[in-house]
Amino acid sequence: MSSSKANTILSEPLGYANPEAIRSKLDELRTTEPVCWVEPEDIRPYWAITRYDDIRYIESHPELFSAEPRAVLILEALEKENQERFGEIMGVKTLVHMEGERHMALRKITRDWFMPTNIAKLRGHVAELAEGFIQRMRDKGGECDFAADIAFWYPLRVVLQLIGIPEQDEAQILRLTQQLFAPESFATDDKDTMTVFLETVTEMGGYFSALAADRRQNPGDDIASILSNAKLDGELIDDFTLTSYFVLLATAGHDTTSASLAGGLQALLTHPEQHQKLLAEPALMPQAADEMIRWVTPVKHFARTVLADTEIRGVPIKKGDTVAMFFESGNRDAEAIERPLEFDVTRKASKHIAFGYGRHNCLGMHLARMEVETFMRLLLPQLESIELNGEPSFIPSHFVSGLSSLPIKYRFK
Ligand code: HEM
Repeated sequence: MSSSKANTILSEPLGYANPEAIRSKLDELRTTEPVCWVEPEDIRPYWAITRYDDIRYIESHPELFSAEPRAVLILEALEKENQERFGEIMGVKTLVHMEGERHMALRKITRDWFMPTNIAKLRGHVAELAEGFIQRMRDKGGECDFAADIAFWYPLRVVLQLIGIPEQDEAQILRLTQQLFAPESFATDDKDTMTVFLETVTEMGGYFSALAADRRQNPGDDIASILSNAKLDGELIDDFTLTSYFVLLATAGHDTTSASLAGGLQALLTHPEQHQKLLAEPALMPQAADEMIRWVTPVKHFARTVLADTEIRGVPIKKGDTVAMFFESGNRDAEAIERPLEFDVTRKASKHIAFGYGRHNCLGMHLARMEVETFMRLLLPQLESIELNGEPSFIPSHFVSGLSSLPIKYRFK
């Protein structure tokens, strides 16, 4: 058994600025210690789960592995502060943080909206938005930072428009979601990580309460109107739950897709033969988009609390322990995914777990795939050439991470 201090990199945000180091740690644990006890200094100790089958097992047994009260590994001091201020250790209580009937009832409110038949109706609109961002690349005159200039903004615009948030508020929402996922990157000498996080949650609460009040007065056909007017047991949803729902959609809906789009483009640039295959056979685009999402696996972990003494792979796990599922590792597990370390745009019906599994599996998966597919389908045939133009860099977050910068040089036809 490795020392419990040896693997803390898995829950250190800065570790994810160097994804190769994280992947090699995950690869090592998956083979040597797939159920590994980790004791970080400032986060509760947890079992790092790195095998595909074990992650699916945990996700399939919410009666034993609960998303309550902790769905993500955060600083213990922050958990305490959140508990005092919001009555919840995570600061928000979204679908990902709850189990049972209430989870299913809340999920049901938007579930149909996210199903493939409805998402298919949005194709034309999403394509228009994508063309707008491809035009932005043209306007940049042959060089841009694809992550910071394009990939951050396109999924953000898609999801915010679907929610019903106006374009002029995009920058504010982007800042808030980035602060929520990586508060440490916004800490300064005068403002520590915890203060940044708490201010972010409070500002988000104010913004979304105002939005809900407006949609109750002026309902439309956006998601904000559905949520603000939805009833559970005959009552409108309370403010805290509603704000949490908005926070989830606004956050889950873009950083993840942005990371997949930028990482997908980077994968094409570093695998020119795959790029050529896609150009030659554009019908591969839907599966290529899904492969890009697997390749990037932007959601790095989710956590669960163990509800009764149990064991995983023969390792005894105690009631009350925390398990953390490292999805990227599951997607690199050769026992579940064929040739997992190969980026392969022809990969069919991939059973990857970038979108999780089971009751909590990603509600937005059809939208996310459609967004990535649409952008690539429109962009790639318009390009005469495209290449890397500098060192890429990565978002330091152990929750959602991907490229923060991808400098590229290109020529349109
Ligand atoms: C949940 C990944 C895009 C909405 C999740 C989960 C993952 C995930 C791993 C947790 C699943 C689990 O615990 O089993 C991703 C990835 C995306 C993406 C990789 C992009 C490539 C989106 C989009 C939306 C969205 C575009 C909506 C606008 C949600 C919601 C949940 C969720 C609402 C919570 C479901 C629940 O707990 O019941 N996502 N997501 N996601 N995602 Fe996504």
